[in-house]
Amino acid sequence: KQLAIVGCPFSAGQPKGGVDKGPIHLVSAGLVNQLEALGWNVHFDGHHQFEDISIESDPPIGLLKNPRVVSRTCEALSGVVSEHAQNGRLPVTLGGDHSLAMGTISGTLKHFPEACVIWVDAHADINTTDTTDTGNIHGMPVSFLMGIGSKVPEFDWLKPVLAANKLVYIGLRDVDDGEKKILRENKIKAFSMHEVDKYGISKVVELALDHVNPNRDLPIHLSLDVDALDPSVTPSTGTPVRGGLTFREGHYVCEAIYETGLMIGLDIMEVNPSVSDTASVTQTVAVGCSLTRAALGETLL
Ligand code: ARG
Ligand code: MN
Ligand code: MN
Ligand code: MN
Repeated sequence: KQLAIVGCPFSAGQPKGGVDKGPIHLVSAGLVNQLEALGWNVHFDGHHQFEDISIESDPPIGLLKNPRVVSRTCEALSGVVSEHAQNGRLPVTLGGDHSLAMGTISGTLKHFPEACVIWVDAHADINTTDTTDTGNIHGMPVSFLMGIGSKVPEFDWLKPVLAANKLVYIGLRDVDDGEKKILRENKIKAFSMHEVDKYGISKVVELALDHVNPNRDLPIHLSLDVDALDPSVTPSTGTPVRGGLTFREGHYVCEAIYETGLMIGLDIMEVNPSVSDTASVTQTVAVGCSLTRAALGETLL
């Protein structure tokens, strides 16, 4: 029972400072000890200073902001994550912004090509280089992983590794028009907050698994953006959207994925300690830690 904490102080996929401090706060809050208490052998050798990747200047490519820094960081992260997977350590990546998922998911899929992805988020993060309004790459990692949209040579290292039928979303409520079209055209399964209200979270998780993992025999990569939860639960994040998952709904998703025994990768993304007041930061970091524990076997009884 081995895992590796991959701390990624990284923010270039979006414009707000502070999200690079997310992993430092999660670890300072005692996450390593908490996971050891759950019986894990935790490998943590410090936060990865990927930002040292020296790029003299990184002007936009088309609309994409900081494309070289994001690309090269994700490429390096992909190598780190796949090496942990290769060595039998479950990679737990602490972001940092969600553009990092290009690195984490390509890394786990390299070792587990048949794996499916459960993406828990307020946002679909599937804008392409053609549909993005903001140019922020944290709104685009899924399209890059799937190989849709106009290609950017800088990202040539990232091959299309994720098929539409291997992806399912939970928690969506702020999806851009271009993204809605992509979800429809590619028949990507998504459970928005509407479906969470309609069916309840346990049914939604079951239906999500039925779609990507009908026989419950495929490895699962869980990519969790803390903005999936309601801003009353995780206020310190860069793009909060009201009407999100409750504290328990968020934890239930993590517990249910753990219970499958199939999780081979976990991302905890978008904790931004520079957003909001001290009490909100403390709360968001605590919830980030408890979601991580729930995904790694913590039970209530
Ligand atoms: N859809 C918006 C965009 O493309 C927001 C994305 C927010 N993504 C996130 N990982 N918080 O910029
Ligand atoms: Mn290491
Ligand atoms: Mn989000
Ligand atoms: Mn996201």
